[in-house]
Amino acid sequence: MDGVMAMRAIGLWSCPCVRKCFYGARPSWCMRLLFYLSGEHTGMAEAEVRALFETYHIPWRCLLLEHQVAIYEAEIFPGLSRLSMTHKILSVDFSLSKQPFRVRVKKLLSEADTLQLEREIADDLQKEYGRIPVDLENPEQEVYCILQKGKRFLGQTVMDFPYSYEGRKPHYRPYFHPSSVHPRIARTLVNLGRCSREVLDPFCGTGGILIEAGLMGLEVKGLDVSEHMVAGTRTNLEHFGIRTHRIFQGDATRLHNHFQEVESVVTDMPYGKASRLTSSRKQLYESAFESIRDVTKKACIVLSRPYDFERLGYEEREHFILHVHKSLDRHVYVLSVQ
Ligand SMILES: C[S@@+](CC[C@H](N)C(=O)[O-])C[C@H]1O[C@@H](n2cnc3c(N)ncnc32)[C@H](O)[C@@H]1O
Repeated sequence: MDGVMAMRAIGLWSCPCVRKCFYGARPSWCMRLLFYLSGEHTGMAEAEVRALFETYHIPWRCLLLEHQVAIYEAEIFPGLSRLSMTHKILSVDFSLSKQPFRVRVKKLLSEADTLQLEREIADDLQKEYGRIPVDLENPEQEVYCILQKGKRFLGQTVMDFPYSYEGRKPHYRPYFHPSSVHPRIARTLVNLGRCSREVLDPFCGTGGILIEAGLMGLEVKGLDVSEHMVAGTRTNLEHFGIRTHRIFQGDATRLHNHFQEVESVVTDMPYGKASRLTSSRKQLYESAFESIRDVTKKACIVLSRPYDFERLGYEEREHFILHVHKSLDRHVYVLSVQ
């Protein structure tokens, strides 16, 4: 059974926009890839996928976006391994070999007997492909079905993203400070910043953003006004095997003293305790944003409140709000400078 028949058999075929794209003329590079997105913040998860397509200049077209399922016409490329808010990537147009396989079903906002459904899908596939050995523990190929709000989406797993952030959480680093962002969010911010070569964090703190950037193979640059933080960032980077870095003690409102031009700036601003912006913080933000604008064309900036970046000459491409706890939101701005 090919992808079309499989979808017919289990229901995805009923989705008009997927059906339409099957019959349309498709360029040869295209595959239909299904991204099973994190439910934590689906908007940001979807934006992260698009950001990587743009970073690596991959032509793409969105065919379907429903809650935790996004289907794109695009190609698979190594840079997708950077994704932090995607659980799995499936190829919708799959064809199975004779190698051992298994079927897994994930229920999202649905009621169903998962084991029963896995067996049914496996039986259908066996009918179409002839006898293929089943290996539930260590299969060569996996067919994955997402049952979302009663609608079935099927594909072959082409990339898996096991959750591996535990050991990099701030309290496991040699230098700890509670202000650091969770490594998964740090990675998303780097990806939203659309960097393919290097990233600068001008308020680097303990290096949470730079650790993730360094682990993705990007060149890391950082600045912090506190000498302790600078030393802490260097220690943390080296702890994770990131030995090439340029971290300085300095003022983020005067970036040109240290850096001429950088590909992208990704940063988490100092928040302070007050819910209103104090005048000194307002001044710090404005001067820092002007300084960032003068050294880069792409930025991803996190603050604890909304901010009018357009007034300073930025184009606001995206704005997400993350609820951290009752009294703290994080506003994530994806910006560009013309
Ligand atoms: C919210 S923390 C950054 C947290 C960081 N993302 C991490 O993972 O640890 C903000 C940092 O900004 C630094 N900072 C405050 N004013 C600064 C300035 N004018 N220039 C550079 N750094 C500054 C503080 O020392 C603090 O380390």
